[in-house]
Amino acid sequence: MLNQELGGVALVGTGSAAPQAVLDNGGLERRVETSDEWITTRTGIRRRHLAAPGESLTDLAELAGRRALEMAQMEAADLDLILLATSTPDDLFGSAARVQGQLGATRAVAFDLTAACSGFVFGLVTAAQFLRTGVFRNVLLIGADLMSRWVDWDDRRTCILFGDGAGAVVIRASDRDRLLGFEMRSDGTQNSSLTLNFQAQARSLEPATATDGSPLAVALGTYQTVAMNGPEVYRFAVRRVPEAIEKALFKANRTAADLDWLLLHQANQRIVDAVAQRLEIPPEKVLGNLCEHGNTSAASIPLALDAAVRDGRVKPGDAIATAGFGAGLSWGAAVFEWGA
Ligand code: COA
Repeated sequence: MLNQELGGVALVGTGSAAPQAVLDNGGLERRVETSDEWITTRTGIRRRHLAAPGESLTDLAELAGRRALEMAQMEAADLDLILLATSTPDDLFGSAARVQGQLGATRAVAFDLTAACSGFVFGLVTAAQFLRTGVFRNVLLIGADLMSRWVDWDDRRTCILFGDGAGAVVIRASDRDRLLGFEMRSDGTQNSSLTLNFQAQARSLEPATATDGSPLAVALGTYQTVAMNGPEVYRFAVRRVPEAIEKALFKANRTAADLDWLLLHQANQRIVDAVAQRLEIPPEKVLGNLCEHGNTSAASIPLALDAAVRDGRVKPGDAIATAGFGAGLSWGAAVFEWGA
């Protein structure tokens, strides 16, 4: 049955989880030719949490989800949909269903959403469509990534940037619509700037042949490590992210001056500062966790949101502009108000 009388969405709970093990810049100095000074001044990152071999993305996502449900005072059985934004699932078939099973969200359908570091924003907008049309009432959106599994730990240009974590929000159908505006974009022509590509090795299927008698081979393989053109991604982010936020603000009928908070995907403090400056948003209105977590991909926005909600910085009714950007290339922004 459609609950068309509601028509809007509200974010009513947050949760997060990060692995216990912490690698600081000093530890990285012992592994690759770098320095705490270089990493701190170029990125703002000081530490990152790394999953141990026995830890799973599913468990971290479940924990973040449980904490968000608790804040929302909701049972897992109340959920209609679980969206898991991730590029690093435990299982290439998807990890959302495992999270659903572990949570005991018996009524919920669950699926993964792959949009790299834009995953959380794309997930928020996707969830809103199901809620606004009245198809579902309660959605758990989780952004989770274990980037440490896919980074070349001998490549100083990338390994210093990434960390592991999970963050979640509960989004509910509401008569007051708290998602005020959004913008989502992709540009596959720049895909090679940031990739985690499949690497195939041809495997002959001899003595089997194709039905026409020709030889057959398939491509077996695994994934490479993260490959990135840092300066190109940097330029892309600094140009496209403010544009997307301005479009989302326009659709929300707001200006940057109306915002209480700016919460960007945590990739590099210099990107955050440049975007804030372009939008004329003062540093005290900028949320983030780069220093502690590095770039946790789809997890970075909900991880930082959860911390700010729990320590009381973000209050009910606060207007927040958020933006994700990264591989695809993809980018997106959303303007929303926190709370019921
Ligand atoms: N430690 C010390 N030196 C390093 C280093 C490290 N970890 N990584 C690179 N360098 C060196 C380079 O080799 C280069 O030296 P050279 O001039 O002798 O060749 C120099 O530092 C400058 O490299 P460059 O890549 O131009 O640095 P940068 O100022 O662009 O910073 C990034 C590099 C990766 C921090 C920056 O480009 C960035 O953050 N880009 C965006 C990446 C991103 O956000 N990715 C995820 C998107 S979701």
